Amino acid sequence: MRKVTMTVNGKSVSAEAEGRTLLVEFLREGLGLTGTHVGCDTSQCGACVVHVDGRAVKSCSIFALEAEGAEVRTIEGMANEDGSLSPIQKAFQDHHGLQCGFCTPGMVMSAAALLAETPKPTEAEVRHHLEGNLCRCTGYHNIVKAIMAASGQEMQVAAE
Ligand code: FES
Ligand code: FES
Repeated sequence: MRKVTMTVNGKSVSAEAEGRTLLVEFLREGLGLTGTHVGCDTSQCGACVVHVDGRAVKSCSIFALEAEGAEVRTIEGMANEDGSLSPIQKAFQDHHGLQCGFCTPGMVMSAAALLAETPKPTEAEVRHHLEGNLCRCTGYHNIVKAIMAASGQEMQVAAE
C-alpha cells in the first residue's frame, strides 16, 4: 500500500492505495465519493467518468497512482457553491435527461468537459462526444437535448 495524494473537488486528499487500485475504487472506497459509478468491467459504459486535470477520463481505466498530484473533479464537485445544481445538472433535470440515473454522473461529467472545450457544439458533436457513455433508459434524445440547452441552443431533431 502507498499513500496517494491528489486534489479532489478542490480539496487536497490522501488515502492508501495499492499499485492495482483503480482511480474509481480510490474515489469510491478510499474517499467515499460514491457518486462516480461503476457500470461495467470493460471500460465501455462511461458511468465512471471524472475530470482529471480538466479532461474527461474513465476512472476505471487508470490507476489511482497515475492520478498522484492531479486535479480531479467528480460529480460531487459539480454543484454550485450554495449546493444548487450547476447549469448542466439543471439542464438534465429540466429536459428529463435521466431516468434511473445510473449513467447520469458520467454523462454530466462528459458533457461538462465537452462544453468547456466546445461551448456551442452541434448536435452531431454532442452525439459523437457521448459515444463512450452508455445509457440503458433514455434513448439519448433527452440527454442530447439537455446538453444543447445547457449550451444555450435549442435542439431541432426528431426523437430516436
Ligand atoms: S465503469 Fe468505467 S467505463 Fe464502465
Ligand atoms: S438513465 Fe438509466 S442508464 Fe441512463
